[in-house]
Amino acid sequence: MAMDFRSDTLTKPTPAMREAMARAEVGDDVFDEDPSIHALQDEVAGLFGKEAALFVASGTMANVAAVLAQTSPGTEVICEEGCHIFQYEAGSAAAFSGVQLRTIEADRGHLHWADIAARIRSDDIHAPPTVLVCLENTHNRAGGTIYPRAVWDEIGKNAHARQLRVHVDGARIWNAAVASGVSLRDMAAPVDTLSVCLSKGLGAPVGSLLVGDSEFIARARRWRKRLGGGMRQGGILAAAGLHALTHHRDRLADDHENAQILARAWADVPGATIDPARVETNIVIVEVAGMEASDDAIIAALGERDVRLLGMGPRRLRMVTHLDVSRDDCERAAAAVRELFA
Ligand SMILES: Cc1ncc(COP(=O)(O)O)c(C=O)c1O
Repeated sequence: MAMDFRSDTLTKPTPAMREAMARAEVGDDVFDEDPSIHALQDEVAGLFGKEAALFVASGTMANVAAVLAQTSPGTEVICEEGCHIFQYEAGSAAAFSGVQLRTIEADRGHLHWADIAARIRSDDIHAPPTVLVCLENTHNRAGGTIYPRAVWDEIGKNAHARQLRVHVDGARIWNAAVASGVSLRDMAAPVDTLSVCLSKGLGAPVGSLLVGDSEFIARARRWRKRLGGGMRQGGILAAAGLHALTHHRDRLADDHENAQILARAWADVPGATIDPARVETNIVIVEVAGMEASDDAIIAALGERDVRLLGMGPRRLRMVTHLDVSRDDCERAAAAVRELFA
């Protein structure tokens, strides 16, 4: 059977998760009456030490609602050039909230306060007011990198001193917490709002949450409705999320170890560039500019060996480890990489 490393979104619900879904107590969540959604929201708000949380359909919806609830048209949002909000959300921040995204290219996807500070607009009627900073942790396109703690804390502290709010795209913040040993609560403390996904490494079929203060969550709730994201008996999905939080969080460490197996195999391939020591979580990005074979040819050759991977822009390939690829799968995939190219 094909070993699918294209994304950690590909996982299928386990039998135990399906049972939890089948048992879920439900109500109408637009009436705010779904007990399973309430339980999930309370659990996640508590994990991050914030006042409230809101269950939404996807990471993209969470991010766009976060931007909508913390900006107004014509304001400016500072984010990193490779971030998901800028690269992969179909322009939703611009399309729905009318903000201008101001991007900064940054090594490993990490903005530093000095780079942000240099771009904050002056109080001049010609300028779009800077109101929000968006960070991504872990950073997908940069290869699952984790923000260094000091850099993170410095951004939070200084942004607030300049009256900027800070939103985190934490689709994979669970991976960052497990790999770094820093608690979710400590990571959330310096920032205002976070979007977190249940449907990536945690292995739930659907769903993300927004976390923040009660006033923000109330605004985001209205935006969710406006976006058509009000769900009714969504507790069936929330139950999958609660199950994932209980059973699939600690095992992310296995995904990180498995990513090392893949990274080490690619490090042995002539012309491929990757430093396994810089692969911090479950995303392995290899630069193949030095290889003769084209991206498509590499993907096709591995596909014939039942190893699926994803192109991530010219001469960059991505493999992501997750719940549905075992240690054995990763060893077999690593052997295929070595046999074909090393
Ligand atoms: C970092 C990051 N943020 C947000 C998203 C968007 O999530 P969704 O696909 O649920 O909209 C993704 C999706 O892979 C992601 O990798």
